[in-house]
Amino acid sequence: MKQSQFDAWAAAELDAVESALDAWVPADAPAGLGQTMRYGVLDGGKRLRPLLVLAAAQAVDGEREAALRAACAVELIHAYSLVHDDMPCMDNDVLRRGKPTVHVRFGEAQAMLAGDAMQALAFEVLTPERGVAPALQARLCALLARAAGHAGMAGGQAIDLASIGKPLDEQSLRDMHHRKTGALLQGSVLMGAACGPIGSAGWDALSVYGDALGLAFQVVDDILDVTQASETLGKTAGKDLDNNKPTYVSVLGLERARAHALELRETAQAALGRSGLADTTALSLLADKVVERDN
Ligand code: IPE
Ligand code: IPE
Ligand code: MG
Ligand code: MG
Ligand code: MG
Repeated sequence: MKQSQFDAWAAAELDAVESALDAWVPADAPAGLGQTMRYGVLDGGKRLRPLLVLAAAQAVDGEREAALRAACAVELIHAYSLVHDDMPCMDNDVLRRGKPTVHVRFGEAQAMLAGDAMQALAFEVLTPERGVAPALQARLCALLARAAGHAGMAGGQAIDLASIGKPLDEQSLRDMHHRKTGALLQGSVLMGAACGPIGSAGWDALSVYGDALGLAFQVVDDILDVTQASETLGKTAGKDLDNNKPTYVSVLGLERARAHALELRETAQAALGRSGLADTTALSLLADKVVERDN
């Protein structure tokens, strides 16, 4: 892929993901649950994780059906994590993706259940009756479960809540961010890579890329929380300070946090350089996007 083709590639992939999610997130789940799920998943978000899955799949010439399913499954887990992250028992936020949060709109019990159902739906999407070989289904489920569970996102969120008001050192902060955000981003890259043939050198390089990019993503999220307005973010600015959360900005200061995000981008780009994969343009441009974004 040439750099000039990236925007068209991304636009087409975003359309494909949106249509697939629209088809797979049910409108008819009981007692309004479908409507709540659709509100939390559709028409919003940057869809960075699906793009990472599809970019990695493209780099390994991966199987399309598996990659599209993986892209949607990761986004379902991510969207569920946001619904729960915003609840009063966690970050207590009222704005997400430019709209009232799910619990504000539908109540706390529906928000909790919609998150639960999104998580299960992610694994349903990964395990179709036909179209994806059983061994690949199992591999994708394993990668996603590890990224989402106690060792990844949910574990990181537990550390996040346990760290309120505590001055974490840089290493503990890095560990928390790696888990709560990095794991799912790295998992996205690896799920895409699992959809095609890849040797151990390529796999290891993409692991390093995903690890650095995932941490960079949350470092930038911490920066944007203090530098951007709520209208740009589509979520409440200044929330970390309000909630007394340790962040890369509170621990390192804004300038060092920015410098660290740039270093992590370099690490990610260098890993792509030694991956031995023929075409990593999309992955490379996505790493730039993660660091240069303003929302
Ligand atoms: C926000 O993620 C939550 C974090 C893990 C930092 P995104 O910034 O990717 O949110 P959306 O999907 O674009 O709304
Ligand atoms: C969220 O981190 C990480 C998740 C697993 C959802 P934040 O709490 O910083 O995310 P935002 O800023 O609310 O999107
Ligand atoms: Mg949070
Ligand atoms: Mg939050
Ligand atoms: Mg944040």
